[in-house]
Amino acid sequence: MAVRNVERGEVEKKELVELCGGKKVGKLIVMKLDLEDLESVREFSRQFLKDFTRLDILVNNAGLAQGPGVSKQQIELHFAVNHLGHFLLVRFLKDLIQETSVKYSKQCKVINVSSEAHYRVITENDILDADKLVNQDGSNLPMLFAYGHSKFCNVIFTKSLARYFKQDPKANVGCYSLHPGVVSTNVFRHSPTIVRGILSMLSLYFLKTPESGAQTQIFLALEKNEKLSNGGYYKDCSAREVRPVANSENVQDRLWTLSENLCKDFASL
Ligand SMILES: NC(=O)c1ccc[n+]([C@@H]2O[C@H](COP(=O)([O-])OP(=O)(O)OC[C@H]3O[C@@H](n4cnc5c(N)ncnc54)[C@H](OP(=O)(O)O)[C@@H]3O)[C@@H](O)[C@H]2O)c1
Repeated sequence: MAVRNVERGEVEKKELVELCGGKKVGKLIVMKLDLEDLESVREFSRQFLKDFTRLDILVNNAGLAQGPGVSKQQIELHFAVNHLGHFLLVRFLKDLIQETSVKYSKQCKVINVSSEAHYRVITENDILDADKLVNQDGSNLPMLFAYGHSKFCNVIFTKSLARYFKQDPKANVGCYSLHPGVVSTNVFRHSPTIVRGILSMLSLYFLKTPESGAQTQIFLALEKNEKLSNGGYYKDCSAREVRPVANSENVQDRLWTLSENLCKDFASL
């Protein structure tokens, strides 16, 4: 479990172990990772690569939706936490995932939790306008656009990653993005009061429980890669279409390059 607050993580861990009724089903380890700070991502990766010799499934679930703000490195907060932190993490861990697949003949996976909000982003300029992302707190963007933008980056990055892993014919690594549904969690806790008010009313009747909202991630983690669409976007356990601009290899490469440039001071371990 990679968490930004280790104390809270240990409490969650205890609850999870209790839920397993004392049965030994594996080992759960809590490690610190703050995706808002690229130095923390680098430190986590350094530690992970020191402690572990394989990585079968990486689920990039953490995310936020809130008002204007910047990360430790002065990057618009949604883009920084929801995309860039995960980008740098995967960049450090991708070789281990590839090696795990080859060495143990295993199906490995990278699963990126995106959102239907990504459909709000339409044009190539919307996606790759670095001026709106760097040294900007997002106050020039509507909150749901900034969130949707970062979630569209998850979809596009997933497609680039699938292409990256395909270069090694010996490795079997599937990459998927998904929408979990509209789930009654804490994701909008920092959002404007009106958004929270509407969501808490809806949660009484329409929102999924967290257990139900986890089903597509679990499905993607357990299903055979051969039965899934590599690089695809999923909702309710089935593949869905995304805006055609996400399928452009040029757009995928430009997002990768932009992300590399923004992480360049943290690129080596
Ligand atoms: N809920 C929905 O309706 C919905 C819909 C579509 C997509 N999603 C996506 O589903 C994913 C999970 O969200 P959720 O609904 O379960 O919301 P949540 O309850 O707020 O969980 C988000 C998690 O992300 C972690 N996180 C936030 N910022 C972080 C950072 N800087 N470093 C490390 N971890 C950080 C949070 O940690 P803390 O506990 O420390 O805050 C929390 O554990 C997100 O990617 C979200 O965008 C949710």
